[in-house]
Amino acid sequence: MTLRNCLLAVAAASLLAGPAYAVQLSIVSGSVGTDIQELRGQLDEYEKQSGNTVKIVEMPASTTDQFGQYRLWLSAGNSDIDVYRTDVIWAPQLAADFVDLSQAMKDEIPKQIPSIIQSQTVNGKLVAFPMYTDAPALYYRKDLLDKYGMKPPKTWAELTETAKTIQDKERAAGNKQMNGFVFQGAPYEGLTCDALEWVASHGGGQIVAPNGDITINNPKAVAALEQAKGWIGTIAPEGVLAYKEEESRGVWQTGNAVFMRNWPYAYPLGEGKDSAVAGKFAVEPLPAGKDGKSAACLGGWNLAVSKYSKHQKEAIDLVKFLTSEKAEKERALGAARLPTIPSLYSDPDIVKRQPIVAKWKDVVAGAVPRPSAPTKKQYNEVSKDFWTAVNETLAGRGSAKENLTKLDHQLRRLKRGGWE
Ligand code: GLC
Repeated sequence: MTLRNCLLAVAAASLLAGPAYAVQLSIVSGSVGTDIQELRGQLDEYEKQSGNTVKIVEMPASTTDQFGQYRLWLSAGNSDIDVYRTDVIWAPQLAADFVDLSQAMKDEIPKQIPSIIQSQTVNGKLVAFPMYTDAPALYYRKDLLDKYGMKPPKTWAELTETAKTIQDKERAAGNKQMNGFVFQGAPYEGLTCDALEWVASHGGGQIVAPNGDITINNPKAVAALEQAKGWIGTIAPEGVLAYKEEESRGVWQTGNAVFMRNWPYAYPLGEGKDSAVAGKFAVEPLPAGKDGKSAACLGGWNLAVSKYSKHQKEAIDLVKFLTSEKAEKERALGAARLPTIPSLYSDPDIVKRQPIVAKWKDVVAGAVPRPSAPTKKQYNEVSKDFWTAVNETLAGRGSAKENLTKLDHQLRRLKRGGWE
């Protein structure tokens, strides 16, 4: 056979073999609300287009539980999972286990919000690519505030007062289940977000400063946590100490809370057919602390390709597909997931269908990151010590001052010579 014929034969064989080259990929993802449904819809489209198939491995809703499981799989070099949906805070801790996406995504990178790409870059390696970003809102019952002639609160003190007034009046009128305020008080990463917002909005810093200094034990942070402690059993149910996002949304969506702190995904769900609050609520940025300003914790999710995947090329293609402008737009339209591509904030379809997205552009721009970059591989320990100190304070086990002093010692022991 001549070389030419040989090449032709190889080309023909690979054409004929088409589907035999199709691979089966696995993507692992946690979810709240309709995340998995949305993802499945997009994967169905990807399957049609690529000939590959993709299985979803579904995780519990808590990002803390997901992180624990992923760390086990990755440290065991598990090759069953090709793509991981990763939280914005994980990049420094999991960097060694993921493929560098900077070359493969080089044409897509300039379309993204630079600080988000930065947050996923560790020592020059692009560890994960953004799917959507996240920044919370204060949801409030417009109908109830109107009924009692009250305005959406600009400060936590105003929120405390408004929540108490409306809760008490509604209860007196027979609405016994009514609560003033629900949020995420369970001991997990979500509480780190909520409490960072309380602290930062009082001017009490970010737990650990961007330069690595431990700053959490300060009078403004103490004041912020004491204020939050005062909510338990007065405007917030005791049960809030075990609430994550979905538990708060459950109370809110059955019509039993005046205020809720939650991420934008709760907006379209609140407007859903089965929601008791459809048409009755609105959102504002979170309130400010005493002498401070509103602070929203920066959240968000990304996609990373496992170094142990046997199908890295196809996995990267899948990441491209799921992070394209089209995919981000669908996610914004369907679930109010905030885009990481700036132009989508003024996309007319999104503005019309999910007004919270357009309204949230500035909140995203000013959002406060958790200290995962400065504390590097120790972020999860730092966060765990912080959420534990906060949850204990809320539960009345020790004062804010005592718990933050203890936390300060724990963090200093963790840091020793420097964060690594
Ligand atoms: C949201 C955020 C994520 C955060 C989590 C905490 O999913 O996007 O960044 O860690 O909430 O519960």
